[in-house]
Amino acid sequence: MPEKIDKIGKWSEEKLSLLGKYLHSYTNIMKGQSWCKNGYYYIDAFAGTGKPKSKDEERYIDGSPLVALKIKHPFMSYIFIEQEGWRIGKLGKLKEAFKNINIEIKEGDCNKIISNDIVTKVKYENFNRGIIFLDPFGMDIEWSTIKNIANTRALEIFMNFPVMAINRSILINNPDKLTKDKVERMNKLWGSPNWMSDIYKETPDLFGLRIEKVSQTGKSLGDMFRNRLKEVFPEVTFPLVMKNSNNAPLYCLLFAGHNATGKKIVEDIFKGFESLKS
Ligand SMILES: C[S@@+](CC[C@H](N)C(=O)[O-])C[C@H]1O[C@@H](n2cnc3c(N)ncnc32)[C@H](O)[C@@H]1O
Repeated sequence: MPEKIDKIGKWSEEKLSLLGKYLHSYTNIMKGQSWCKNGYYYIDAFAGTGKPKSKDEERYIDGSPLVALKIKHPFMSYIFIEQEGWRIGKLGKLKEAFKNINIEIKEGDCNKIISNDIVTKVKYENFNRGIIFLDPFGMDIEWSTIKNIANTRALEIFMNFPVMAINRSILINNPDKLTKDKVERMNKLWGSPNWMSDIYKETPDLFGLRIEKVSQTGKSLGDMFRNRLKEVFPEVTFPLVMKNSNNAPLYCLLFAGHNATGKKIVEDIFKGFESLKS
């Protein structure tokens, strides 16, 4: 059987470069914090294989686990979570390659692993801190997971909010065609059915009430989710919209944490990226 490999586009490489910049700043600050004696963690909730290939060239890329492992001042501990067995096998090679670094690999649904295991392990009162990278393909993150992370006060998130997946499955012209499965998925991501009233509006016409889709951009969807994040995290950045080569929004990057400095660092990184693109 041919070897299975993940292929990623240019926009994913840009996302990884932005992540790397923040991780570098984070550990650069944390390495001098002697109070954080029990360690600061990098947790990759959707870790992938560690080494995807570029879509357009025969070239391997450092996926998020490797980006995090190769930073100048490494984290004290790394946890990589991945649902697919074949990808877990590849992640195992990173443990061999980085023998001196504390790496744990966990197989399964990150929502369950974070809520049952991680949030009880990384504790504010034990002087632990950490960052969780949430990088799903689609609508796989659950609001309850985000809320559990926020409640630790010790963990912050750098996340990929899946605009294109939402556009394809939820933002359809005829809401009667929304399937129960898709609505339930969006409810889990949003943590309530309240998104519905922002996305579909009831408009009166000759025959009564007509339900119409409200036109949304990547930015407006990202802002809606930002407002949701602000209900549980004190510091949330603006959403950085990442687009493909056809200028279609793919996802937004967002940071949510407990510390104003963290937010400022990420916003500066995002603004630098936006000014390069304009
Ligand atoms: C976009 S990829 C991650 C890419 C990775 N961050 C990188 O930079 O190479 C999403 C990954 O999440 C995994 N995944 C999907 N749902 C998951 C879940 N509920 N829990 C854990 N992993 C999941 C997929 O198998 C896939 O490897």
